[in-house]
Amino acid sequence: MKIGVYVHIPFCVSKCSYCNFYSEVKPNLINDYVLCLVKEIKRECDKYKNYKVNSIFIGGGTPSILPSGCVSLIINTIKQNFCVLPDCEITIEANPNSINYTNANEWFNCGVNRVSVGVQTTSNRLLKLIGRAHTFKDFLLAINNLKKVGFKNINADLMIGLPRQKQGDVKNALKYCFSLGLTHISAYTLILEENTPLFNKVKNGELKLPKEEKVLGMFNYLLKQTKLKGFNRYEVSNFAKPGFECKHNENCWNMVEYVGFGCSAHSFVKNFRFGNISNIENYIKQINNNLSVLEFKDELTKEELIEETIMLNLRTIKGINLENLKQQFNYDLLKVKTNEINELLSYGLISINNNYLSATNEGFYVLNQIILKLV
Ligand SMILES: C[S@@+](CC[C@H](N)C(=O)[O-])C[C@H]1O[C@@H](n2cnc3c(N)ncnc32)[C@H](O)[C@@H]1O
Ligand code: SF4
Repeated sequence: MKIGVYVHIPFCVSKCSYCNFYSEVKPNLINDYVLCLVKEIKRECDKYKNYKVNSIFIGGGTPSILPSGCVSLIINTIKQNFCVLPDCEITIEANPNSINYTNANEWFNCGVNRVSVGVQTTSNRLLKLIGRAHTFKDFLLAINNLKKVGFKNINADLMIGLPRQKQGDVKNALKYCFSLGLTHISAYTLILEENTPLFNKVKNGELKLPKEEKVLGMFNYLLKQTKLKGFNRYEVSNFAKPGFECKHNENCWNMVEYVGFGCSAHSFVKNFRFGNISNIENYIKQINNNLSVLEFKDELTKEELIEETIMLNLRTIKGINLENLKQQFNYDLLKVKTNEINELLSYGLISINNNYLSATNEGFYVLNQIILKLV
């Protein structure tokens, strides 16, 4: 059985104005935290003896700010305590201002084979506006260092729909992603998260978000350009050169089990979803006292599993494997939702081919409505 391993690094050098992911600016806790992570991995690994690891993802927060030796320690601990497949994808999330030749070299040498760089935009004006701690030049230097040490599989996270963002900004970001030979692009439409500084600025009128048509225009531009340059859209927000689709992402959308380590990390194992506490100090205290760090653990019912499978599968280009759904859950989607499916087919929002039901390009624009109809 396959499993993915996720490791959460909840530290950043500063908080970006739009972000509500769990991370804190507490550099003095990093070393203790990493030691606790290693303890957690070692004490939990016995539960996963029958699994083979096909993906390891060190995410954050900002894993690239870890001090020298930490990433190798984490990867080596996983390799020593899990059965890691030889072709395992090992990704690290990194921010441009904390990638240098030395840490990139350490990652490469301990087996990291994919780097996901948080570029967001190449416009210094926008980077400053959204509180990013890096500049366009940092991005160029970072990619240069990654390539110099040998990385061949590099992703750029881009954001669409930022305040004051224009199509020219997206054009420029893509120009550099293409000319630098990146293999993967994730393009996320800005979600205005409550209780973030950006949310408050938009609420009090200090900043305006671009209109929906404008955001759509920028996204359509990105769709066209990525296609022209040989990237395949394999999920709503993800584009890859052939063979560079991200296994970590594919695991999530295909309901492959995964185990998460670290503060606020989530897991999905044997139909249970569970997650660790979201407080770094408490996490360290609990681990050092050999106590549980579990915050919640829920067993999914058969209905919930079906819903999640439909929702996650629909995000992908392939879509839902109808035969799998029948075999795994004894659930015949075509029979249960005949009217809804016929309606969606007549609008051209979904298609059915070789036992897969998937959203069409038009359908991807209204994916949430399609999901609502089908679950
Ligand atoms: C959790 S972050 C971690 C990566 C790294 N810390 C960074 O920011 O570059 C992963 C990605 O999520 C995206 N993201 C974060 N907050 C978002 C939001 N409010 N709306 C849309 N995308 C967001 C960004 O593109 C970011 O690169
Ligand atoms: S660097 Fe990434 S995780 Fe950290 S605050 Fe910014 S968006 Fe959030």
